[in-house]
Amino acid sequence: MDKIYDSSKNERNVDVQKVAIIGCGFVGSSAAFALMESGMFSEIVLIDADHNKADGEAIDISHGVPFVKPMKIYAGTYDDIVDAAVIVITAGAAQKPGETRLDLVKKNVGIFKSIIPEIKSRNCEGVILVVANPVDILTYVAQKLSGFPENRVIGSGTVLDTARLKSRLGDHLNVDSRSVHAFIIGEHGDSELAAWSSATVSGVPLSTFCEMRGHFNHEESEANIQEMVKNSAYEIIEKKHATYYGIAMAVRRICAAIIGDEKAILPVSSTMKGEYGIYGISLSMPAIVGENGVEEKIPISLDEDEIAKLKESAEQLKKIAGELDL
Ligand SMILES: NC(=O)c1ccc[n+]([C@@H]2O[C@H](COP(=O)([O-])OP(=O)(O)OC[C@H]3O[C@@H](n4cnc5c(N)ncnc54)[C@H](O)[C@@H]3O)[C@@H](O)[C@H]2O)c1
Repeated sequence: MDKIYDSSKNERNVDVQKVAIIGCGFVGSSAAFALMESGMFSEIVLIDADHNKADGEAIDISHGVPFVKPMKIYAGTYDDIVDAAVIVITAGAAQKPGETRLDLVKKNVGIFKSIIPEIKSRNCEGVILVVANPVDILTYVAQKLSGFPENRVIGSGTVLDTARLKSRLGDHLNVDSRSVHAFIIGEHGDSELAAWSSATVSGVPLSTFCEMRGHFNHEESEANIQEMVKNSAYEIIEKKHATYYGIAMAVRRICAAIIGDEKAILPVSSTMKGEYGIYGISLSMPAIVGENGVEEKIPISLDEDEIAKLKESAEQLKKIAGELDL
């Protein structure tokens, strides 16, 4: 029998039917649209420094409601987020063509210094889901400034990059991307890496499956696919100035895992507590995600080279985090 989620068992003061989105630009409004379309919440509150923008998006998106199911979508204030089960933060400057995610640090840490105290002062008990970039640094910042338990502050991390990897591999192997089990881990950014050594297609080691499909040049293909995944955002930004549909679906997937207490394994960003010898910074590795955010991280097997790259990725993030004035 399917598991039916029993919200009465949630010990925190949250309404599992409510989500708040802070920042209603391309990403926030696309996420709101995806969440409306999913029908998984009965209340979506939109907040933006530009209240009119939030209001316009709320009105527009709410016109989709008659095609889905009844729900309330409105522009609100921080007082409206108190009982939200998930607080999605998509506020922040976006990358300009040629700009890296890390270039955004100063601007967006400043924005977080205005947002997180608002959440903290209202004793919110939901899960904070950071989406703004650089997402790993901002997840770290959100946790430090909010004082929330580490499991309740997560970043969308490499959930999107992993979807991009699965999509590329699906095309390459002419197989349904949902049957590909592979993760991008580390920073959501230039130092991210594909965990090739643990990748499978429905349990068949990736290299074996590749050979079944007539591909034998593993190293070159892996390098090409990883580069394409890493550069996806740059390519999209170059061509249409922003990326938002893919991340909107990633937000929808993470919200479903939280409010359904799914215990889904997703590569979200969260505080590392000694996994692979990494401490005190947020980055992505597969983790069990449920109603309390990250329940447990999954130490997938990595080869020596992958562990070294993951540590390098962590060092880069730590250096930036260490220079922040929080
Ligand atoms: N994690 C990912 O995979 C991923 C993917 C795409 C974009 N992003 C990031 O998401 C962020 C938003 O991107 P976008 O394209 O929507 O940008 P955008 O410029 O379209 O929207 C940003 C919104 O944030 C609002 N805002 C700014 N300061 C605010 C504050 N203090 N309080 C409330 N709202 C505030 C702005 O008014 C604007 O509406 C960027 O940092 C971008 O890099 C992340």
